[in-house]
Formats: sequence, C-alpha cells, structure tokens
Amino acid sequence: MVPTVRAAGPTDAAGVVALLRAARPHLVVTPQVLAWQATGKPAERFGMLVGLGVRLAYARVVDEPASLAFAERHGYRSGRRNVILGLDLATAVLPPAPAPPAGVRLVTAADLPDPRPLYEADLAAAADEPGDVGMDEISFGDWRAAYWDRPDLDRALSTVATADGVVVAFTVALTDGRDRYLSGMTGTRAGWRGRGLARLVKHASLGAARSAGLRWAYTLNDAGNDAMRAVNAWCGYRPVAAEWRHLRTLHE
Ligand SMILES: CC(C)(COP(=O)(O)OP(=O)(O)OC[C@H]1O[C@@H](n2cnc3c(N)ncnc32)[C@H](O)[C@@H]1OP(=O)(O)O)[C@@H](O)C(=O)NCCC(=O)NCCS
Repeated sequence: MVPTVRAAGPTDAAGVVALLRAARPHLVVTPQVLAWQATGKPAERFGMLVGLGVRLAYARVVDEPASLAFAERHGYRSGRRNVILGLDLATAVLPPAPAPPAGVRLVTAADLPDPRPLYEADLAAAADEPGDVGMDEISFGDWRAAYWDRPDLDRALSTVATADGVVVAFTVALTDGRDRYLSGMTGTRAGWRGRGLARLVKHASLGAARSAGLRWAYTLNDAGNDAMRAVNAWCGYRPVAAEWRHLRTLHE
C-alpha cells in the first residue's frame, strides 16, 4: 500500500484516536477532544498555524533517540524533561486518606457555584510551576473556554480544597470516559504549602476515579519538581515513560 499525505479532516478523528491510544497509553484522548481543539475559541490556544502570528512552537518529544533526532532535524531545541507516572487503580493500594487541616473543606469542581476561585488558584499555581513554557496571563473568559469547558474535564473527579470560599488547593482530572484518567494540573496556594493539601486533593480524586470505574491513572511531572514527585510517589505512582519539552522559533 502506498501511503498518501493529506490534511486531516473531521472524519479522521476516530482513526487518529485509535492510533494515539495504542501508541501512547498515558494519553487521554477522544474524538471530541480533537474536534474541540481544532475549532472555535480553543483553536486560538491550541492552533499550530504560523499565520496566527505565533512566534514559538512548543512540542513534547518522547525520550528515545529517533524521536529526539527527528525534532532536532526540524529545528526544535530541547528544554526540560517530564516524567510520566502511572498507577493501576484496579490493583493499587492507596495510602490512608489524610485529614484536612482545620477550616479546610473538600469539594469537587462540580460543586463550585462559580469556577472563578479555581481560575484564580490555577493562575497562582501555574506561576510557580517549574518550566520553560509558562501559562500566560489568561483572562477568566479565555480560561473558561480553554480549560473549564474542555470536553474531557471531569468536574466530579476534579477535587478542590477551600477555606473561607478561597480555593487553596486543587487537582484537575481529565478522563476519556472509558478507562483512562490524567491529572491536568495540581496546585496549592503559596501560603498553604507543606500542609498535605496536594496529597489530600490527589488522594480524594484518585479514590473517586477508582469508584467511577476508571482503571489507568497517569500524571506528568517536571523532572525537577521534587515536591510534586514526593506527592505522586506517596499516592503510589511509578515512572512509566519520559519526554523532553522542545521549542522552535518560527519568527524572531
Ligand atoms: C507541588 C505542590 C502542588 C505541592 O503542594 P503541597 O500542598 O505543598 O504538597 P503537600 O504538602 O501535600 O506535600 C508536599 C511534599 O513535598 C515535599 N517537598 C516540598 N518541597 C520539596 C523539595 N524541594 N524537595 C523534596 N520534597 C519537597 C514536602 O516535604 C511534602 O512531603 P512530606 O509531607 O513527606 O514532607 C505546590 O508546591 C505547588 O502548587 N507548586 C506550584 C505548582 C506546581 O508545580 N504544580 C505541579 C504541576 S504538575
């Protein structure tokens, strides 16, 4: 069979998802997510067109020689390393649930009457995340479109710790509605760190994911983020793969 190369269209989504699921077990991907990334408001954030005025292209490259060489040949330079961690929820024994500190309440993202406190906590945490590509100053409206309204966000499994109406810690859960769970982002407000809140929200979310019948949990860590790696190791996550972040300059 002679392969042909053509632009992807909406009817390719199911085939692309099947390929991605088989090749990258830790990805949470559905035809709905692909369609959503390609259209409407989110396309402005996830679009890959030079014509949009984009100056830097960002890619994540599997940590194996052929993929890294391919990226280099195409003008990408490598940045920081990510470790991908996995947990089999069917067999994992989660540690005992930690007790919330006084005044802290655990709820799900679905319970929030308004997502703005989560947006504020997300922005604050993202600013402290180690990395070479940070989250820019995104407006609440854009954040809603790009993160809160994404089709794979599972609000019932995304867990939030609140104190006096402020979100002090959170973990965002993305799922494929079949068997896979991925941590989108975990954060604790600066003044609340080191008190077990990241453990608390991750533990609650993983327990709820297991109760919901999901099997494979994955999370991605910057290799130098020791605090997050300590939390994930405590949850029972173990490394399953690695990748390198890459950047390519499109326009000076
Ligand atoms: C990573 C983060 C979520 C941790 O939140 P937290 O509520 O302080 O976490 P916890 O208190 O539950 O646990 C932190 C653990 O990391 C350990 N830790 C903290 N800093 C550490 C360091 N530099 N090296 C090693 N371990 C460290 C703590 O000692 C604690 O473990 P312990 O309970 O065994 O002592 C928080 O620091 C944060 O929001 N960072 C910015 C956003 C970010 O990087 N998010 C992760 C993106 S994947």
